[in-house]
Amino acid sequence: MIIAIDGPAASGKGTISKGIANHYNLPHLDTGLLYRAVGYAMLDKEKNEDFEQVALDFALSLDKSNLDPNILGSLEVANAAAKVAKIEKVRLALRDYQTAFAKQQGGAILDGRDIGTKICPNADVKLFITAKPQVRARRRSLQLLAKGGDVSESDILSQIIARDESDRANKAGNFYKADDAHLLDTSKLDIEAALREAITIVDEVMATKSE
Ligand code: C5P
Repeated sequence: MIIAIDGPAASGKGTISKGIANHYNLPHLDTGLLYRAVGYAMLDKEKNEDFEQVALDFALSLDKSNLDPNILGSLEVANAAAKVAKIEKVRLALRDYQTAFAKQQGGAILDGRDIGTKICPNADVKLFITAKPQVRARRRSLQLLAKGGDVSESDILSQIIARDESDRANKAGNFYKADDAHLLDTSKLDIEAALREAITIVDEVMATKSE
């Protein structure tokens, strides 16, 4: 079974994907980490004239199986990821790894922005997870506060809106809900309820397939 999960930042898709992976015992790939790793490598190369080529070389040589979410988790890295994610050749360089991960025996779950549209258009189940920007900003600020960070929720909201806009304007990406994806709006759900809802959708889709 291949499960494709897409959605914007702080929609809950990461936590829900991990929960689904756990529930069905499937390997999980957070594809945002691939773009974050390239963005991280390019942080001090913003002014390089050959920015795109250096980003591509890095994407090609990246050890994609060994990415550390703790190093790559910051907002600065997320913004750098959104920048390199606009380079078509970088997307292509990261593509084979993602499709091979999806096709492994027994199936897999991948989350990102273009999984249902581009990476796994034939996934068995597709979910598009979203939530209102204000709710996403609240969640992100609580996460950062829990880690001891000094945060302003309104700054986080502006950053979330800015990244949404940057991602929407990404001509190299396919950041929209696939027609056959199931929409899950988590604005009014806590994480347990959202995960239950996601698992119900997966079970229902798989039941109709086996009829
Ligand atoms: O999901 P996450 O916040 O880690 O993604 C960081 C950035 O990487 C996104 O804002 C997006 O620009 C890019 N990305 C992408 N395609 C994916 C996953 C992430 O372009 N499949």
